[in-house]
Amino acid sequence: MLTVSHLTKTYPNGKRGLIDVGFSIAPGSVTAIIGPSGAGKTTLLRSLNRLLTPETGEIQLGDQEMRQLPPRALRLVRRQIGMIFQDYNLIEPLSALENVLHGCLGRKSLAAGMLGLYTKEEKSRR
Ligand SMILES: Nc1ncnc2c1ncn2[C@@H]1O[C@H](COP(=O)(O)OP(=O)(O)O)[C@@H](O)[C@H]1O
Ligand SMILES: [Mg+2]
Repeated sequence: MLTVSHLTKTYPNGKRGLIDVGFSIAPGSVTAIIGPSGAGKTTLLRSLNRLLTPETGEIQLGDQEMRQLPPRALRLVRRQIGMIFQDYNLIEPLSALENVLHGCLGRKSLAAGMLGLYTKEEKSRR
C-alpha cells in the first residue's frame, strides 16, 4: 500500500509544486495521475522516490516512510521503483535492450555495470 498525506513542496523561487496532497494506492492496482501542465504531476512523482524532498507530508510505502529513509535504505527501495522520464533520457549509442537493462544497475556491482555485463536471466526478464 502506498499512502501519501499532506505533501507540500515549494520551489526556491516560491512556486508551489504541491499543496497538501494525499491519497492511497492499493497493491496490484493501476493508477493514472492526470492534470493540466503545471498541476504538479512531475513534482509528485519525483517526491515519491525522493528525487526531491517535500518540506511537509508523509510517503508511506509498505512499512517504509520514504521521507525518513537513510541513504542505503533509500537505495534499496529505489531499486523497486521504475521511472521513465518525460524526455526518456535514453542513451542513443546503446540498443533498446541495453537501455532497458540499465534499470538493473542498482542491483549490480560497479564493475559488471560499467562493463555492461548482464545475466541471461536479466536479459530474458519481462
Ligand atoms: N524546478 C522548478 N523550479 C520552480 N518551479 C517549478 C520547478 N518545477 C516545477 N515547478 C512549478 O511547480 C508547479 C508544478 O509543476 P510540475 O510538477 O512540473 O507539473 P506537471 O508535471 O503536472 O506539468 C508548476 O507551477 C511549475 O511551474
Ligand atoms: Mg510533468
